[in-house]
This record gives sequence, C-alpha cells and structure tokens, in this order.
Amino acid sequence: MSGQSPEVDTAKINTAVAQATPTAPADDTPLLRVEGVSKKFGDFRAVDRLSLDIKAGEFFALLGPSGCGKTTLLRMLAGFETPDEGRILLGGRDIAPVLPHERPVNMMFQNYALFPHLSVRDNIAFGLKRAGMARAAIDTRVGEMVALVKLDGLEKRRPDQLSGGQKQRVALARSLARRPKVLLLDEPLAALDKKLRESTQLELMELQRRLGMTFIVVTHDQEEAMTMANRIGVMDAGRLEQVASPRDLYEAPASRWVAQFVGDVNLFDGEVSSREHHQLTIATRDGGAIMVAEPHDPVGETVVSVAIRPEKVKLLRRGPELDAGNAQAINQLEGVVTDVSYLGGSTVYKVKLDSGAVVRSSIANTARLDIDTLSAGQRVIAWFAPDDCVVLER
Ligand SMILES: Nc1ncnc2c1ncn2[C@@H]1O[C@H](COP(=O)(O)OP(=O)(O)OP(=O)(O)O)[C@@H](O)[C@H]1O
Ligand SMILES: [Mg+2]
Repeated sequence: MSGQSPEVDTAKINTAVAQATPTAPADDTPLLRVEGVSKKFGDFRAVDRLSLDIKAGEFFALLGPSGCGKTTLLRMLAGFETPDEGRILLGGRDIAPVLPHERPVNMMFQNYALFPHLSVRDNIAFGLKRAGMARAAIDTRVGEMVALVKLDGLEKRRPDQLSGGQKQRVALARSLARRPKVLLLDEPLAALDKKLRESTQLELMELQRRLGMTFIVVTHDQEEAMTMANRIGVMDAGRLEQVASPRDLYEAPASRWVAQFVGDVNLFDGEVSSREHHQLTIATRDGGAIMVAEPHDPVGETVVSVAIRPEKVKLLRRGPELDAGNAQAINQLEGVVTDVSYLGGSTVYKVKLDSGAVVRSSIANTARLDIDTLSAGQRVIAWFAPDDCVVLER
C-alpha cells in the first residue's frame, strides 16, 4: 500500500505469507473473558447470554449475518454500551466501571467515524492528546502511524479529501495510535477493492504480530476471516453458534446452520439405517443410501443431515474404477449436468440428480486447456468418499 496509489509490495507479502499460518498463543489464560453477556434494545435481545474467551495475542474473527449483534458485542467490549446481563473481564478484572477511553481497548468503527473538520494528523493524534501525551511524543507517534499505514504526504488533508481506502487507513492508524492491548475492528476492510483488501489483510496480520496486540475483527467476508484469524466465532441471533479454527469450522461444522453459512455445502437429509465397521449408512430421500465415516463424537440422533462440500464431490462419466478389494460402488449419484460456472481457479457444476435434487461439484482448473471438461446436458456420476461427509444433527 502507498499513500497515493495502493501498490502491492510483493517482498513484504511473501514474508507475511511465510509467517501467515496463524499460530495459537501458548498461554491459556484468557486476556478477555465475556461471561453470559446480554444486551437488550427494548424487548429485543441483540446479544443473548454470550460467553467467549479471547487469549492474549489472538487474532479472532467474528462472522455472522447482518443484524446478528456483532457491532453491539464490540461496543460493549469497548465500553460504549453497558451489558444488561453478565460480565466482561480483562486480565481477570471486571471492566464495567472503566470508561471507554480508559480501557486498554480501542475500536475502529464500521463507518470509520473520522472527525470531518480535523486533518489526517489530528485525527490520528486525537486519542493521544486526550490521554495527555506530550506534544513531541505525539509527533513521533503520529509519524510512526502515518508510515505504518502508508499515508505519507497526506497528513494535512481532511477526510473529505481522501478516498474510501485512505479514510479506512486513517481510522486504522487512529485506533492503533494508543497501542491498545485489544483492538476491535468492525469491518475494517469493507471499503477496499479485492487486491488492496488482500494486501491489507496480510499487513494487518503482520502488524498484529509485530505489535503483539490482540485483534477482534468483524467481517462479512469468510475468506478474509479464514485468512487472518487463529479462531473464528460464528454468530447468529445474538449467540455464538460455533467457535473454532478456520479449518475446523469449514471441515467440521457443528451444525447445519454453520455448514450452510460458512462456504458452500450439499446437504442430504436422512436417517441412520445401519452402523458397522466404523461406517454409518444414511438413508436419504434425495441421494439414496449414503455411506459416511462414523464421526468421532457419536451422533445421538437418527434423524440427520449429511453435509458434503462441493470440492469433495467428483464427477465422472462412468463409475469410478473400483479397487479389487472394494467391490461395492458407494456414494455414486447419477444425474445430468445442468449448469457450468467457470470461476477462473475452479469450475462449479450443478448436477440434477434423478431424484430431482441438485448437487454442486467444484473442480479445480489445474490445466489451462482441459479437453476433458463436462458440459451441460451430459450424464454424469457424482461421487464422494465416506470420509469427506459430515454428519449433522437436524
Ligand atoms: N441503538 C439501538 N437501538 C435499537 N436497536 C438496535 C440498536 N443498535 C442495534 N440494534 C439492533 O440490534 C441488532 C444487532 O445490531 P448490530 O449492529 O450489533 O448488528 P451487526 O451484527 O453488527 O450487523 P451488520 O453486519 O449489519 O453490521 C440489530 O437488529 C439492530 O437493529
Ligand atoms: Mg455491524
């Protein structure tokens, strides 16, 4: 990123990518503990008895549909709203009596909330002045922040003389300036184009690591959450549906709702009809008998859904070559390709099964010219391995 035109610094990105695999911090004591917190607006519970522990140094992402209570939760952490129920502990101490600007927590707002009449410099310096920092120290710190977010040369401009992406970086610099222990970022990259978003994601990760801060970031963009966070919390209707690593969230969703909300998924509703050799057979209406590997945590219910991600569904013109030892053709669903969407890196096929249900298959485009591509109207077999199925209670 540069002040004028956002350019991608490849060397820097490569370094960030090399370090980008999120590593969970070793210490187990939570820096931040949210204990049964609720916030009501009238009769409506925007946040509903929510509990969550955040460790020092974590990069935590909050995902959830619009209106599910993400901003309200952050506002309570920052001290702009008071919980109606529950407690928020920072380093083991209840922070209810601590005023927002006295908390070691800063928030970057969804709409940036820059002061329109102040320059870039004064916007960034605002919290430092209020905290009583000496002028020389403020100048040094603002200089560091301007360099950090690459706004050099724009210090004297007012917000209305900046682009959306530049305003976003001023807001980021302002929220970082006081070096809070915990930084809350509400949709921090929403105003940026895809390329700038991606490079800024890497820069945020680098920054968070370098400054040793704890980040909680709200985003609508699942890929963004997956890229940046150690852990992701998925929220719905004021509650946390699941808190997990990006991989676990995607590969082992805790519920049908999470499986559908995070990424794309094929779901087959059915009932467990038999259980042997660590495999379950699920009788489904749309896909016939589906064999799945028995989950680690046994399913209590017999009424279940089978979830399969589109990239785990392979398409063949005939049944797969079966090993001599595996005489049975399992999880092979016949149908017709109805739709082919070329997405660059992959192609998504929709297959209408003979049962009428539609299965999506996503296939990586590994060769530039693939003579073996399928087209609409072709009869195919969609198949998947028992290990790639997730069994979810309904
Ligand atoms: N001050 C308020 N008075 C009344 N209702 C409110 C107030 N603030 C938020 N709400 C309601 O609480 C719910 C949660 O709002 P919140 O802003 O936390 O959602 P969000 O998850 O951040 O959504 P988005 O992704 O759209 O930003 C919404 O239904 C919203 O209308
Ligand atoms: Mg919000």
